[in-house]
Amino acid sequence: MILNGVFSAIIILILSTFPVSAAQKKPVYGSHGAVASADIIATRIGLDILKQGGNAVDAAVAVGFTLAVTYPQAGNIGGGGFMIVRTGNNEFYALDYREKAPAAAHRDMYLDENKNVIEASSTLGYLASGVPGTVAGLYEAHRRFGKLPWNKLLQPAIEIAENGFEINRYKENSLGYRYEKFLLFPATKAVFTKNGEKYHAGDLLVQKDLAETLKRIRDKGTDGFYSGKTAELIAEAMAENNGLITEEDLADYNAKWREPLEFEYRGYGIISMPPPSSGGLVLAEILNTLENTDIGRLGHNSSAMIHLWVEAERQAYADRAEYMGDADFVSVPVAELISKEYAKQNFYNIDPYFARKSENVHAGLKQIPEHVETTHFSIVDENGMAVSNTYTLNGSFGSCVVIPGTGILMNNEMDDFSIKPGYANMFGLIGNEANAIEAGKRMLSSMTPTMVTRNDSLFMIVGSPGGSTIITTVAQVLSNVIDHGMNIREAVEAPKFHHQWLPDYIRYERLGFPVDVLNNLRNMGHQLQKTDALGDTHAVLWDNKHKEWTAWSDPKKNGQALAY
Ligand code: GLY
Repeated sequence: MILNGVFSAIIILILSTFPVSAAQKKPVYGSHGAVASADIIATRIGLDILKQGGNAVDAAVAVGFTLAVTYPQAGNIGGGGFMIVRTGNNEFYALDYREKAPAAAHRDMYLDENKNVIEASSTLGYLASGVPGTVAGLYEAHRRFGKLPWNKLLQPAIEIAENGFEINRYKENSLGYRYEKFLLFPATKAVFTKNGEKYHAGDLLVQKDLAETLKRIRDKGTDGFYSGKTAELIAEAMAENNGLITEEDLADYNAKWREPLEFEYRGYGIISMPPPSSGGLVLAEILNTLENTDIGRLGHNSSAMIHLWVEAERQAYADRAEYMGDADFVSVPVAELISKEYAKQNFYNIDPYFARKSENVHAGLKQIPEHVETTHFSIVDENGMAVSNTYTLNGSFGSCVVIPGTGILMNNEMDDFSIKPGYANMFGLIGNEANAIEAGKRMLSSMTPTMVTRNDSLFMIVGSPGGSTIITTVAQVLSNVIDHGMNIREAVEAPKFHHQWLPDYIRYERLGFPVDVLNNLRNMGHQLQKTDALGDTHAVLWDNKHKEWTAWSDPKKNGQALAY
């Protein structure tokens, strides 16, 4: 008996000292390059482009156009996004190809005569779309950094659109989820239903009109989308259906190079997206606050660790609602928000034992006057050029409008504006003046394509979908590696949680947290709400010991990482 007891104690000691299951989780690895995206077809095409001598931007262009065909719930040419590019000599560039409000858009466009929000007007149908930016963005990235010819990079997407691809169980589910909405729009019904019936696993999805549109983009570049036949078809359909986007709006669209948002976390360089994304700013606020203590020593996903994170998130999202918007239109106090002094002040406002109520936590820069399907891919090539790209239609399948004759599925990104002060958007986010609708303005985003450096070498590429939860997912993956010593697979797969100030509760992954951790958090005063999944991370990490790239895609959805 005594021996048995000793034996058990030794086993427990061994198990707690060596995380056996964690050690078995191996990411994919290779010394040349890696691609991690939400779709196996797109990942394979990206890797082929690298093997053919293309660089990371070439692969990103091919992956971006392929996802528009094979991952239509978020991959797109009718939406927009952000890209961080790192060149082989360690220079970083941030490309903003976010949608913008059409010229005829105005502040109260989604309100009725009594100033009440007209239900679904900013999420479903023609009026929900901003002017798309994806084609301009991918073209501009290629113009500046691409190596292989543009037409070669579009060819795989064209062939898949023309000949079709087989729907798997995951895609059957995601198409099924929006089926009722597809029936509302004839061109959408024609593409995403089988003569009005649901698609099933094993069916072939063919997109002939989309193939023709992609051929025009292949042959004419941005003119194949923003002028000529494609632009005419978009403007015509908009005019007939109460939408706002005109040929002039399309002709006026430009992707913009921005100054990347850079800060340090525990000696690592973090490079992320500045406004009109809130991603980099909120990421910096959260990590800067946590830097004031040793997060690793609290233990991964302990209640003490989660409590500190949540209180840091609460403040950062309160600031998001108040201060953040398109910096071309409003003044965003970037330097103040990412300062270490501000983070220290926020850290010392946290009670280590008790949750604050969000109604008592306000935007914190006192000197300032009052006033969900996306997708990410990460790519690195053998010269260390890298791309971290997040783009979106906003909701799953965007506005559910396919423009007749083009196969283009349009975004419902206008919902990312604050359509009425204090009114929650589809992610429960509220906003104020800084993110009010104005003609030509870009709506505030949470997309957080990010890279990390160590000693001026590329260390990590990371990003995720998830609307408002994108930023906290990216932050946790970063911290899992930096603070908790996880490899990229462990960091990506580890259970996630999220708090965004309002609504005032912690969302947590249903199967990821022990009951006693949840009970401890309740005892501290936190409200909790379980959810199936948070984020869908696709990331690449340098393994310095083996001198190779490691990569992993979140297994919760349909993603796949490959390296060679
Ligand atoms: N549409 C989600 C975002 O940009 O945050």
